[in-house]
Amino acid sequence: MIKALILAGGKGARLRPLALHIPKPIVPLANIPFLFFQIDRIKRAGITEIILSLSYQPRKITDIFGDGIKYGVTMRYTHEDLPRGTAGAFKAAENLIDDTSIVMNGDVLSDTDLLEVLEYHRSRKADATIVVARVMNPVGYGLVESDSDGRVLRFTEKPPEDEVTGDTVNAGIYILERSILERIPAEGAQSFERELFPAMVQDGARVYSYLTHGYWQDIGSPQKYLEATFGVISGRTKLPVYPQKACTPNHWEKQQVSIDSFSILDGKCVIKQGVAIENSVLGEGCRVEAGALIKDSVIWSGSRILPNARIERAIVGRQCHIGEGARLRPGTVLGDKSIVSDFSVI
Ligand code: GDD
Ligand code: MG
Repeated sequence: MIKALILAGGKGARLRPLALHIPKPIVPLANIPFLFFQIDRIKRAGITEIILSLSYQPRKITDIFGDGIKYGVTMRYTHEDLPRGTAGAFKAAENLIDDTSIVMNGDVLSDTDLLEVLEYHRSRKADATIVVARVMNPVGYGLVESDSDGRVLRFTEKPPEDEVTGDTVNAGIYILERSILERIPAEGAQSFERELFPAMVQDGARVYSYLTHGYWQDIGSPQKYLEATFGVISGRTKLPVYPQKACTPNHWEKQQVSIDSFSILDGKCVIKQGVAIENSVLGEGCRVEAGALIKDSVIWSGSRILPNARIERAIVGRQCHIGEGARLRPGTVLGDKSIVSDFSVI
């Protein structure tokens, strides 16, 4: 049976301070723990056996998903005390997987049709199929170069800027045959991107790439996380926004409050007079006082925004306090429990 393995053991260092107290795979995206978007994608392909490969703060993740039954899947876990790298994590799940597996990075948001990728993989009789995406700036990704039939000619993880020759990058979604487990050492760390894939290409193994046409974005840094949020709330991702979307805050002073249709507010927010919210997400129990403006931003749960504060293109962690008249300028990222005093400009 085909199973899906989600690599969810990274530390999320580039998503600090957001991923300090919440592991990256479950940071809320549009108020939903991120992995739900991937679980949904996997279920749509008719796959219900999912393995989560964990290392960093595993309990916080297992507490949410448990055995998966509530979400219509069977969830199993592997755990590495010391991170074993992406390929090592796959090896650690050896006993749980069958012939062909879908393996995904735990931080990519996409509407790729996994069934179509599986079909492509089979038609090429591939050992490994790597989903690739076209991006404007390939720096910081794995560069994948292929021939006209999709056969991968070169895999280069994060090449220096002057060696970037193409624009198709590893989207962090793979179909892998069980046979490639033989190439991964039983102990210790190995990386798909830096070791296994380049070696397979070199050896003439059948490594293919599948170009995804739809939406693709990773959430690995605060700015990418914001982009992914806009992708979801605008509907561009064609991914479902879960029931939270339908919630309307219980406590609105409806006069002069303006909230556009893209914004998502948890039902337990309190919104006072004269507040304007545009293209933003507010988590559970946020309180926004009179005259504040929140635009193109994400505010996590329990934060309090005092009168006339202005927040633009910023991310505010949990239980923050944004003082009266304070201004958060584009690019601001505040970790949990930050305090911004009245009239400060960040
Ligand atoms: N279990 C486990 N163990 N998971 C891990 C480990 C590990 O040792 N190391 C990383 N992961 C998980 C991370 O949690 C993440 O979901 C995924 O593997 C990829 O690791 P990142 O640290 O996010 O890699 P990246 O963003 O620098 O690059 C990767 O993603 C790009 C696309 O977003 C690479 O796969 C690139 O080639 C790719 O272009
Ligand atoms: Mg990443």
